[in-house]
Amino acid sequence: MKRRRRRRRLTFTAAAALCFLLLAAVKLSPLPARQHALLTADTAPVQTEQMVQAADTADGWALVLVNAQHGLPDDFSVELTLLSNGESVDTRMYPALQQMFDDMRVQGVYPTVNEGFRTREDQQAILDDKIAAYLAQGYSYDAARELALDYVAVPGTSEHELGLAVDVTADKTLCTNDTVYAWLAENAYRYGFVLRYPADKESVTGIAYEPWHYRYVGTQAAQTIHEQGLCLEEYLGTTA
Ligand code: DAL
Ligand code: ZN
Repeated sequence: MKRRRRRRRLTFTAAAALCFLLLAAVKLSPLPARQHALLTADTAPVQTEQMVQAADTADGWALVLVNAQHGLPDDFSVELTLLSNGESVDTRMYPALQQMFDDMRVQGVYPTVNEGFRTREDQQAILDDKIAAYLAQGYSYDAARELALDYVAVPGTSEHELGLAVDVTADKTLCTNDTVYAWLAENAYRYGFVLRYPADKESVTGIAYEPWHYRYVGTQAAQTIHEQGLCLEEYLGTTA
């Protein structure tokens, strides 16, 4: 009788120890990556991936010129950092972007990356949608395409395909786009970013004013471009 009670006590102790070990293991295991990403700031990286695509990097990777006259070479490739909101950017410029966003938030300005890297197919879909929107307004196909190209680059000629461009807008629950645009116009160059399509440079860039589209060029180039009121084509000495 006594032996059976001792055996029961031993079984109970072993079961309790097992439960304790199981609970400790659950508590110590880290949060799944996705959950963790949701707890972090908008630009927190969750992984990197290799993407395909070649641009002339003679002036350095951050000064590649991509526009209607300068397309991405077919063998271009870039390593991307995936952000917590599903957008991704060139891994090399990510730290500057994160630092800028951190500093903005400290100053009460709340940005988000509305669009980062795009594939060629993404760019084509955006252009098609824009053309369709103008067609729906009654424009002819040629007129619709021309209007669309004021804002959307021809696939293969978009900086978004480089991974070095970001469309930055506001977290609307916390501030307005205008607040974000004003901060960026004044400060983004300090972090190596420039307003890529200024209002007074449309005849040079071929693209209408986009207060949200910032391009990483590095801090040295960004300071010169900002202080001298240039666009990237002018800084690189080419409009062709
Ligand atoms: N909105 C810019 C011009 C692009 O499509 O790359
Ligand atoms: Zn853009």
